[in-house]
Parts: sequence; structure tokens; C-alpha cells
Amino acid sequence: MAPMTRNQSPGGIPTEEVAQYYKRRAEAEVGLIITEGIEVSHKASSAYPNVPRLDSQKAVDAWKKVIFGIKEAEGAVIAQLWHCGGFRKIGMEPDPNIPGYTASGIVRPGKKVAHAMTIDDIRQTIDAYASDARICEEIGFDGVEIHGAHGYLIDNFFWNGTNIRNDDYGGSIKNRSRLAAEIIKAIRSKVSSEFIVGLRFSQWKQQDYAAKLAHNPDELKDVIESPVEEGLDFLHSSMRRFWESEFKESDENLAYWTKKISGLPTISVGSVGLDSEFIDMSASASPTNINKVIDDINKEKYDLVAVGRALLADYEWVLKIKDQRLDEINPYTKEALYKLY
Ligand SMILES: Cc1cc2nc3c(=O)[nH]c(=O)nc-3n(C[C@H](O)[C@H](O)[C@H](O)COP(=O)(O)O)c2cc1C
Repeated sequence: MAPMTRNQSPGGIPTEEVAQYYKRRAEAEVGLIITEGIEVSHKASSAYPNVPRLDSQKAVDAWKKVIFGIKEAEGAVIAQLWHCGGFRKIGMEPDPNIPGYTASGIVRPGKKVAHAMTIDDIRQTIDAYASDARICEEIGFDGVEIHGAHGYLIDNFFWNGTNIRNDDYGGSIKNRSRLAAEIIKAIRSKVSSEFIVGLRFSQWKQQDYAAKLAHNPDELKDVIESPVEEGLDFLHSSMRRFWESEFKESDENLAYWTKKISGLPTISVGSVGLDSEFIDMSASASPTNINKVIDDINKEKYDLVAVGRALLADYEWVLKIKDQRLDEINPYTKEALYKLY
């Protein structure tokens, strides 16, 4: 299951309904659940209401219940750790005086509207990821996925459209990947070697769907190499349409190249089981492209496939696909964004 923010955790605390929502999917053979983004325990991480956190005993206890339900159903669960970066605005909870944090004060290319992080800010943020990952291991998550995609904080550092720093965290692709690498390193120093640590990244940004961190496989190597060297266990290549070719002169997608370059288990994602692409929230569900996913996995082009919206609408999606009960699948509609089916 792909990580999907549900905004149903008032005060940062996942409710009983949230726990049941995840448990239903584990019972229906969703093998690995990556949770919705959990805001890291840093003062500027939040940009949306009712997103879960780990910063209170109540929130931690509520996550224990979520994990218990998934484990009871023999599922595996990875917590996605998220810092919203420049999507935060003055006036937002919990402290309305705190602005969005970014590499260079930039959220969209050419426009300085946010706070440019100091070295101290960077250190505090890295520490927040590491201690939250430690909590995740203590309470029974199988691992963490660092959200480094879609224009949020880590991606804001990755992307030269928003990172114009001239210190060790800006300039070359390698420098722009330093924040991600240092977060992975700090996490690895606080968790056991069995605990899974992954990184999700994307070429596309919410601010610019056509943006690219890498224009060819060599540049992709520069983006992911240092995070991989710090001890990553998997990579999650976020695409809007998994069937699209990533680089010229090859039909293969971003997950294929990520696996080939890193040698790590890689997750592919993007409109699996849907007729139209991510962002078109009115997409209807029809599993026309499942055969390609199965074929790609059999050919070991990538290792896992994350399913997002199709699983929001129908928690039994996996079972129905497996049993070829395609006409019984509840189609994805916008309502699934607001309800915990
Ligand atoms: C309602 C919703 C919330 C999402 N929240 C997150 C999130 O918290 N973290 C993240 O990395 N991606 C998030 N995404 C992106 C999904 O993980 C996934 O990459 C995207 O929906 C494409 O997969 P799909 O076409 O199977 O839905 C979200 C998507 C949706 C529809």
C-alpha cells in the first residue's frame, strides 16, 4: 500500500477508525503497508491539519494500536516520516509564527517566500528524524520510509529549482543529496541493523510535474548514491504513471533504473489499476494495466509495486485481483479521499 495522507488524526493522534482502516487491508492480504506521512517531531514539519505525528505519548500509543492490528493480520508496516518543508505557511498549527523551512527560502523557482535553513536548523531536523525512527523501532514498526519526494523538504534540497545554496548542501547533485544522506546516516546510528530504512524520491514535484532531478542514468546515480552508501535497505521511485519511460532511448521506468543503479530492492508506483494518472483525482478504477506490472516483476525490473488510490476505494483490491474477480472491484472515486473505506 502506497503512503497516503488521510487527515483523520486530530491532534496528531490516529483514531480507532484509522487503526481499523489499516487492519482491514492487512487482513485482505496487502503484504506491506507504508503508512501515510507522519510528521517528524520538528517545529516546522507540519503543513496540513489532522496529520498524524509521534510527538506525544497519546500519538505513540495510538500508533501501537495500528501496528498491533496489522501484525495480528500478519502484515508488515513501515512508517513514512515526513517534513512538509516549504508547504508550511505562517499561521499554521502548532506554532503560527513558524514559517516553512526550505534550502534557500524558495518553494517555487524564482520566488523567495520561506525560511532558508541554517546549519543549526539542518542539524535539529536530522536529529528529529533519527529520534522518531528510534521510536518507530521501539513500538514495533518494521521500518521507516523517508519521504524525499513531491517537493517537500528533502526534495526541496534535491532540486536545483529550489536549492541555490552555496555551502555543502547546495550546488552539485551530490551536495543537494547531502541532507537525505545525513538523515539516513543519523537514523542508522539509532536503530538496529534489522530495522528497515528506505527512501522515497520523485522526479516530479507538486510545483512542477515536468521537473527532473536526473536527466540520464548517470545523474540518477549522483542523486541516490550517497543515501544508498549510508545504509539504505530500499528505494521507492515515485512516478505518476508507472508505464512511462524515464530517459530517452529506453522504454524503462524510473524504478527500473533505480534498481539497476542502486542494486537495492525497489518499489514502483503510479496509477496501478487505474485508467488515468495520479493528480486526476476523478480517475476511475479499472485494472487494465495489471498485466504489465506482473510482467515487469517477473522480469525483475523492480521488486515491489505500491498501490495507492485503487486501495483507498477497495480494501479487498488485492484479493479481487488475485481471484480474477475484476468486476467486483469497487471503483475509485473522489469520495474515497474523504472516507476511510
Ligand atoms: C489521498 C492521497 C494522499 C497521499 N499522501 C501521500 C503521502 O503522505 N506521502 C507520499 O509519499 N505520497 C502520498 N501520496 C502519493 C501516493 O503515495 C502515490 O504515489 C500516488 O497516489 C500514485 O499512486 P496511485 O496512482 O496508485 O494512487 C498520496 C496520494 C493520495 C491519492
